[in-house]
Amino acid sequence: MSSQTLREARKYEEVHEKLIPSDDRPKFHLSPRVGWMNDPNGLSIYGGKYHMFYQYHPYDAHWGPMHWGHAVSEDLLHWEFLPVALAPDEFYDKDGVFSGSAITLEDGRHLLIYTGVMKRTTENGQMKEFQTQCVAIGDGLDYEKYENNPVINSDAIPKDSSKTDFRDPKIWQKEDGSYRCLAANRAEDGSGQLLLYKSNDCIHWEFEKIFAKNNRRYGLMWECPDFFTLEDHGVLLVSPQDMLPEGFEFHNGNGNLCIIGKYDSATDTFTEENVQAVDYGIDFYAMQTIKTIDGRRVMIGWMQNWDTSGAHDEKEPWFGQMSLPRELSIRGGRLCQRPIKELENMRTNKVEHKDVIIEATKDLKESDSESIKGGVSLEGINGRCLDLELEVKPKEAKELFDRFVISIAADEKYHTDIVLRPKENIAKIDRKFSGSRRAIVHQRRAFIPWKDDSIKLRIVMDRYSMEVFFEDGAYVMTASLPTDVSCDGIYFNTNKDAILKIVKYDLQ
Ligand code: FRU
Repeated sequence: MSSQTLREARKYEEVHEKLIPSDDRPKFHLSPRVGWMNDPNGLSIYGGKYHMFYQYHPYDAHWGPMHWGHAVSEDLLHWEFLPVALAPDEFYDKDGVFSGSAITLEDGRHLLIYTGVMKRTTENGQMKEFQTQCVAIGDGLDYEKYENNPVINSDAIPKDSSKTDFRDPKIWQKEDGSYRCLAANRAEDGSGQLLLYKSNDCIHWEFEKIFAKNNRRYGLMWECPDFFTLEDHGVLLVSPQDMLPEGFEFHNGNGNLCIIGKYDSATDTFTEENVQAVDYGIDFYAMQTIKTIDGRRVMIGWMQNWDTSGAHDEKEPWFGQMSLPRELSIRGGRLCQRPIKELENMRTNKVEHKDVIIEATKDLKESDSESIKGGVSLEGINGRCLDLELEVKPKEAKELFDRFVISIAADEKYHTDIVLRPKENIAKIDRKFSGSRRAIVHQRRAFIPWKDDSIKLRIVMDRYSMEVFFEDGAYVMTASLPTDVSCDGIYFNTNKDAILKIVKYDLQ
């Protein structure tokens, strides 16, 4: 039976969604039906469709008491909204239905596991927040919270670990039919640890072990864990809070982290080998993966970051969007990503320029952004919902450019730049001139050891974002863009003559 809180939320979103013209939203990146969205939750296949739930506050475009929004899709690109699935309407989740995951039970029902947040006054009179793991079971549309929730209580954690930071359960089924659930927790040292639980029915859970420990190496608390095997490796994804920068690998604040290692399934032991960032751009967090029907491991993240997510206009009817679904693989010990192949079905209006010479712009300075006048534009290469494949190399091998700049979402005033600096093995994204009126992070650099003198990249743009895949997805940089969609120019600048190959598709 649905609660009053859930019914009200369902009614509210149905009425207010109508006030948002579909052209004002991203075309193929999921945005909230109305109001605020953060983490992807419960990515799963149910009833022949992909289901995505999301952290949701329908009532305004800022974070508030969390609900689970709900959408379904056949290709992870075109989404149809369903009514909000969960609301904070029980004593154990009255202060928020936080992130979690989903699975189909043996009997065909859809199970959601999430974190219930409850603030309570303790014996010494202090107000304290408790996080527990709860389930709701349903038919792909309506979900009933389990009568004996929470299923994993805050006592089922190691001694001296935090009962406040205990969240984001990720569930999977092993080959022997039993289930595992990985939840994020804060250890005694104030940094993250991941707790592994096992169950035969997804209801009765038993603590198995501490699966991984941060030991204050990568930020403090780790949020939103995901674990899976890929090409015989174990892959652990987490979203650390309070990161300190490390070279060009990690930046300050909330980040994203991938640890590749060995996984022994018999003992559920994970041994770390390689560590890297998942996305080197500005907006990517709380990623979660799903195995597609044909066995691909696909990842979707929240295309935002907490430190800048408060800096938007009160009056905006929606805020937050998901990243592209990205197919994962491992190459040379690194996690590589490529846009889901279904995106190619959306390609139309191919325009190709082979070996165009881009002549050096006089005095092109680092972030020479006051003016893009003098930049070269190419016939048919413009737009805001695009899939672009580029290859850039110097005209004379000995005369390698220091900087090659691709300016997108551009007109005389606005532009966002992707800067290639091959001599320093750097790529930089810069949205300072994107129309943002806030003092937030606008630039980020990544260290990319370019292999030859020719640099390959793919840029996927939707109305309010860009995702840049370098070197066949070995490095990715993502940013959301506030630029008005009428700014649809693309310009090239270089400080030494370069040769450009480009293929452009509109995405429809
Ligand atoms: C990550 C996160 C999660 C939590 C949710 C709350 O972005 O902080 O740890 O479950 O957001 O909305």
